[in-house]
Amino acid sequence: MAHLGLVGIGVMGSAFALNLAENGHDVSMLDRTKDKMSAVAHEATTAGLRGALSGFLDPKEFLSSLLTPKTVLILVPAGGPLDAVIASLKPHLSRGDILADLGNSNWEETERRGADLDPFGIRFLGMGISGGADGARHGPSIMAGGSPDSWSALEGPLKDAAATFEGEPCCAWFGPGGSGHFIKMLHNGIEYADMQLIAEAYGLMRDGLGMDAAATGDVFEGWMNGPLNSYLIEIAAEVCRASDPKTGNAMLDMIHDAAGQKGTGRWSVIEALHLGAATSMMVAAVEARNISADWDARQAFEERFGSGAGKLSDDRSVFLKRLETAMLAAKVGAYTQGFNVLARASDTFGWGLDLAAIARVWRAGCIIRSVMLDEISDAFEANPGGDLAQAPIFAERLASGATSLRETVVAGISANHAMPSFGAALNYYNLRRTGRGTANMIQGLRDRFGAHSFERIDDRGVFSNGPWHRSD
Ligand code: 6PG
Repeated sequence: MAHLGLVGIGVMGSAFALNLAENGHDVSMLDRTKDKMSAVAHEATTAGLRGALSGFLDPKEFLSSLLTPKTVLILVPAGGPLDAVIASLKPHLSRGDILADLGNSNWEETERRGADLDPFGIRFLGMGISGGADGARHGPSIMAGGSPDSWSALEGPLKDAAATFEGEPCCAWFGPGGSGHFIKMLHNGIEYADMQLIAEAYGLMRDGLGMDAAATGDVFEGWMNGPLNSYLIEIAAEVCRASDPKTGNAMLDMIHDAAGQKGTGRWSVIEALHLGAATSMMVAAVEARNISADWDARQAFEERFGSGAGKLSDDRSVFLKRLETAMLAAKVGAYTQGFNVLARASDTFGWGLDLAAIARVWRAGCIIRSVMLDEISDAFEANPGGDLAQAPIFAERLASGATSLRETVVAGISANHAMPSFGAALNYYNLRRTGRGTANMIQGLRDRFGAHSFERIDDRGVFSNGPWHRSD
């Protein structure tokens, strides 16, 4: 009999099963495909883990192989496939059994699934796991939410399998309902913003400074020695330097420039807008991917209006130094926005999220892991729920990086580069530091056309109308 069941042995599922086995846990696996089962068995044998894994093709037999309460991890594509798996298991489950969805599910669907299973006494957890197949195999970052009393059954094995940062597992339960999947969604939203900043920096180097892919890789590698040290910068250097085995050209130059997306970035933006939280850097990243995918239209547009992205007149080494500082300031903007969305969701849904703990589980294993996340966890520990941009270390980076951010955006925009993400960071900074803004005009217009009323600066808290509504 096994303590844990795992449904779905695709790339992530099989890697995670092997990881659990390696950490001393017996796992029963369920999949519809015999071939996949044989492939995992082969890998398990090679890794000396054969005895820890058993494969099943039938849900009832699979569940009979588990100890009570039956605890099942599900790693299948979100949406319909997940619902189909739950429906196939449900008739064979009893009160107290536990299902945990480890896919990239929409957090509201997680809430719905939990509520549907609740009357049957089946406990449901929604968890984000980050780190790709490599992470699943050797230590992902795990963000759990849902049924609190079921966490104790899973906490041990999941912490054994998770990545660690200075000995601390990057795995935690954060709150009820869909909160785990909400946190994973925001992780991905931030991932989108980080990647868009990297792509824009690459574009400035490639088209503005005429650097080849390998040279841009050297720049990213150099950034690894400073505060931008992160997994995404590390792999950016690797992607820039790789050669295409087919042509011998830089691999990057052979990749079609149309970005895919599965939806978590878009969901992050939609949720942030619902919550009334600023998220311009993620919006910029999602929209840049949308426009990139409209490839044919871009070719026609270039023919009609001429190409953007011209040469920069700046000295290369001066520009690159400034770009690194600008990147850091922009990154502060992206993380401030991301954590503000999490704080807003926590207040709105009553989740009681611990922002420092979220930053802690993102320090290793996940795609956005970076030295900055360690600094972020310290900042939230010192001031829980505070505004990240005002934490001393980040306020200092913004204050000292703002000029570089502005000069980088001005130089890029002047040479017709599209810089939606850097531009969003600069606008976010400028909007937030403008004590006297221009929303008095918005309020005046709203009142003029719709009598929506406004507060006067000499009578705050009292709403009145402008003179344009007088009939005399
Ligand atoms: C991770 C990744 C992972 C995946 C996303 C992003 O944390 O391991 O974020 O979840 O790569 O699905 O996918 P898209 O870029 O396709 O939206």
